[in-house]
Amino acid sequence: MQILHVIQGNETLFSGFGARIGVVCPVRMDGMRPPGMTLQRLHDYEYERHATAKSKETMSELERWETRFSAPGYHFGTEPNAFLGSQAHLLRPGQTALAVADGEGRNGVWLAQQGLDVLSVDFSPTAQRKAQALAAARGVPLRTEQADIDTWTWPDAAFDVIVGIFVQFPSPEGQARMFDGMRRALKPGGLLLLEGYGRKQLEYATGGPKELARLYTRERLEKAFAGFASLDIREYDTMTSEGDAHVGMAALVDLVGRK
Ligand SMILES: C[S@@+](CC[C@H](N)C(=O)[O-])C[C@H]1O[C@@H](n2cnc3c(N)ncnc32)[C@H](O)[C@@H]1O
Repeated sequence: MQILHVIQGNETLFSGFGARIGVVCPVRMDGMRPPGMTLQRLHDYEYERHATAKSKETMSELERWETRFSAPGYHFGTEPNAFLGSQAHLLRPGQTALAVADGEGRNGVWLAQQGLDVLSVDFSPTAQRKAQALAAARGVPLRTEQADIDTWTWPDAAFDVIVGIFVQFPSPEGQARMFDGMRRALKPGGLLLLEGYGRKQLEYATGGPKELARLYTRERLEKAFAGFASLDIREYDTMTSEGDAHVGMAALVDLVGRK
């Protein structure tokens, strides 16, 4: 006996036994029964196999972040990132700021508390609702825009300050496009504040991408922001404690740049 899979496009509509199927549609025959496996177990196995493949395929990056952010509380905490907080002396009330992939808003809200006019962009609506709630709790205005950074149209010379904290989710090519967007969206003389993980983070495994090419190095960032009036890049290891997401030793790379 063989398993029949009823397939339409990329969808498996039904996996079962040939005898039970009496419909005319494209059918693929495969799946020999391994020795010792009962027909019921084989059917269950086939069903699970297809369901798992399907959910892996359709569980998009957005769904993954939505699932994370739908848990109660603030995944990365409500305090600003430590590096960002240490740069308060460079900020002036009234400046326009863009917080890239700002998630639940801990950084965007803190910038607003410094008196900046902040646009907080992220693709997760759940995170943005939390960002708005945090802004309301702190009594500051926060503009939010739900957008996919990979396809977002970066405005020209629109911001005095751009902040990107742990925004290493795009592919290396996507990161290059994001860095170009940041360059373009900064006003002349504008301030860029970036923090991300360095390559040694793969050893610490306390957060961040698992792919070497997505991690920052001084050379990558110097190349990406060549032509800036000033660039101060620091690579170091430190203890982190940011909500329940980033806890423990981490290899960080900080950038303070002036366009
Ligand atoms: C590691 S978290 C950092 C969040 C925030 N910057 C912070 O430090 O608290 C990465 C963020 O990127 C967002 N994100 C991932 N892919 C994105 C995309 N393609 N477009 C916009 N936001 C994205 C996630 O929703 C999440 O909020």
